[in-house]
Amino acid sequence: MKDLPTQPRDLDGNPVTPGLPMAMLAEITHRCPLACPYCSNPVELTRAAQEMPAEDWARIFREAADLGVLQVHISGGEPGARRDLAQIVASARDAGLYVNLITSGIGITRARLEELDQAGVDHVQLSLQGIRPDMADRISGHPGSWDKKMGFAGWVAEIGFPLTINAVVHRQNMERLPDMIALAETLGARRIEVATVQFHGWADLNRKALMPTREQAAFARQVVNDARTRLRGRLVIDYVPADHHAVYPKACMGGWGSTGLNVGPDGTVLPCHAAGSITWMRFENARDRPLSDIWHLSESFNAFRGTEWMPEPCRSCDRKTLDFGGCRCQAMAIAGDARATDPVCSKSPLHAQVVARAESDAATDTTADTAELIYRRMKKTRELQG
Ligand code: SF4
Ligand code: FES
Repeated sequence: MKDLPTQPRDLDGNPVTPGLPMAMLAEITHRCPLACPYCSNPVELTRAAQEMPAEDWARIFREAADLGVLQVHISGGEPGARRDLAQIVASARDAGLYVNLITSGIGITRARLEELDQAGVDHVQLSLQGIRPDMADRISGHPGSWDKKMGFAGWVAEIGFPLTINAVVHRQNMERLPDMIALAETLGARRIEVATVQFHGWADLNRKALMPTREQAAFARQVVNDARTRLRGRLVIDYVPADHHAVYPKACMGGWGSTGLNVGPDGTVLPCHAAGSITWMRFENARDRPLSDIWHLSESFNAFRGTEWMPEPCRSCDRKTLDFGGCRCQAMAIAGDARATDPVCSKSPLHAQVVARAESDAATDTTADTAELIYRRMKKTRELQG
């Protein structure tokens, strides 16, 4: 554990008071029927036996609402893997939270979806891995996934949930982005999240198959810009660009510990979904300490608030309060130092190296059919961890 601040400060040494979180990601299980090669769950998955019971989630939802959280994203893994999902949803609704269910759509029957409607789900977010059966099934590692997802999307529309489509894009499917946006429209979605694969965690194992080319990244940006204009008022498009080909990094999480928090299946509270990759950082557990204390006082949440912690070139950069030095987990993955300037930034001393490696990965000669994918499965995780 490194020496971390419990009081964040700016560059003049003035104390910085953290804002309040608006959203909480509740990863109620890491179990999942899919095996996506870009899975964003932690590399070390929590087993079913370590999952918190619904009663603990109910208390944490009440604490979150007291802290200022307005909406909870109930996610996984696949949240439908929990038999007590409706009970967990009901407790979030009882706490006064807006409930968004993030799901693969697999393993939730129509009857169960109606039960979740009664329990208090306000909104459904459905992941899609492709725009046709072969691609969707191949990327998800789950034969038959496409048919199940399309059936699920039909029930979502019939019951009347507002729908967001979540589409992760990468070299194997980026050219089909216009079709993905069209599919979201056809399914009646009000919003689509187009997120380029983030290459830390599991996705890093699949860089050669998934890293987009510079041309694809430019194409995707143009497609999103055009669609935003064309579909204004009908479909909202959120976009996470391919930052390996960008000039500046993204303002990950809107700044560390500023707007949201993640609670894992065993109660571990993280400032972002990948923070567990910062191996020297100690994270607290919502079963041991009130959420409010963890948000305001913990070393992990205060580690990268304010600007005092920043190294050069961020310290003297006029973008430091715009992108907050980029993504801490990406800095950890590429530079081996979570405090470093995000290496995808053009001002980082590692930038040239990052670009060269991205271009080399993107030049790997594979197609959607031939790309060798390392799928995310719990057993595989254990093998790779030895
Ligand atoms: Fe952002 Fe730091 Fe790069 Fe400036 S130097 S653009 S603050 S990452
Ligand atoms: Fe952790 Fe960006 S994913 S700070």
